[in-house]
Amino acid sequence: MHGYLVKLRVKSTRQEYAVVASKRFLPPAGVNRSKPEQPLRVVISGASGGLGLALARHYLKQGAVVGVMARRADLLQSLADQFPHRVYPYPLDVRDTLAMQSAAQDFISRCGVPDIVIANAGVSVGTLTEHAEDTDTFQQVVEINLLGAVKTFQPFLLAMRDAGCGSLVGIASVAGFRGLPGAGAYSASKAALISYLESMRVELRDSGVRVVTVCPGYIKTQMTEINPYPMPFILEADVAARRIARVIEQGKSFAVVPWPMALAGHLLKRMPNWLYDALFCKAPRKPRGLL
Ligand SMILES: NC(=O)c1ccc[n+]([C@@H]2O[C@H](COP(=O)([O-])OP(=O)(O)OC[C@H]3O[C@@H](n4cnc5c(N)ncnc54)[C@H](OP(=O)(O)O)[C@@H]3O)[C@@H](O)[C@H]2O)c1
Repeated sequence: MHGYLVKLRVKSTRQEYAVVASKRFLPPAGVNRSKPEQPLRVVISGASGGLGLALARHYLKQGAVVGVMARRADLLQSLADQFPHRVYPYPLDVRDTLAMQSAAQDFISRCGVPDIVIANAGVSVGTLTEHAEDTDTFQQVVEINLLGAVKTFQPFLLAMRDAGCGSLVGIASVAGFRGLPGAGAYSASKAALISYLESMRVELRDSGVRVVTVCPGYIKTQMTEINPYPMPFILEADVAARRIARVIEQGKSFAVVPWPMALAGHLLKRMPNWLYDALFCKAPRKPRGLL
């Protein structure tokens, strides 16, 4: 069994004992209690570099088998060569529904139902609505950052719900807390991802499947290399991966990494518009045209 059902008996008003509530107590996230001898099974999108690769390496160090998805096949294969029989590379684009479904089927048939699925693939680029050519960029950013997460989870969801355990993890961003000027597509995609993950979390309540929303601040990766502004509390990718893995293990539903960015995020969310606008109107912007 995955988790165990506890029935609470209390006296009803008719002085009869009746079952009035039941509650599923869950095992720690990511642990399939049905097969404790099995290694952890993890699937990560966007694992050819940056945070996704760091997460893959983190779980590989823990002895997990890891399914890795991204477009750059050579980088996935190089990881697979370093960890024979423990890395399942899926060279694909997260926008490709059929490729995502067939990768999920393949992983499940080879390794079993995953304990953790991390929708991490993402792109960040400056966009401005006034430029007609940015409209296509808006579409790509939303398709990768938001719909890519839906397509990552969808083919695993029924199997995980049947198993009654596991974690679906979305890598959102503090950039989803407020609309950042010059990054409308990115901010909107991450804000939408945060809402989508929340919907899923409530939908899956009591199913045994946890939904974890992670909002990183800044992480040293290719994505941030070209940022022309200061990045407070920036983390190395391996440090961020360790902290995110801890959040998943602890079964938290929402976390900002690192924690000082949680404070900054909280202030940002609460800041009145007049102050936010005044502070951010002149903020340096992410360069456009990078996709
Ligand atoms: N770095 C930060 O400061 C920061 C802060 C907050 C949130 N995040 C989020 O963290 C996640 C990872 O970012 P990162 O910093 O590690 O960026 P990164 O170094 O640029 O890595 C992005 C990863 O996503 C993959 N990817 C992009 N588009 C894809 C697509 N269409 N299909 C499949 N894979 C795709 C890339 O692989 P291929 O190019 O090989 O496909 C790569 O593996 C993103 O969701 C990002 O928004 C990052």
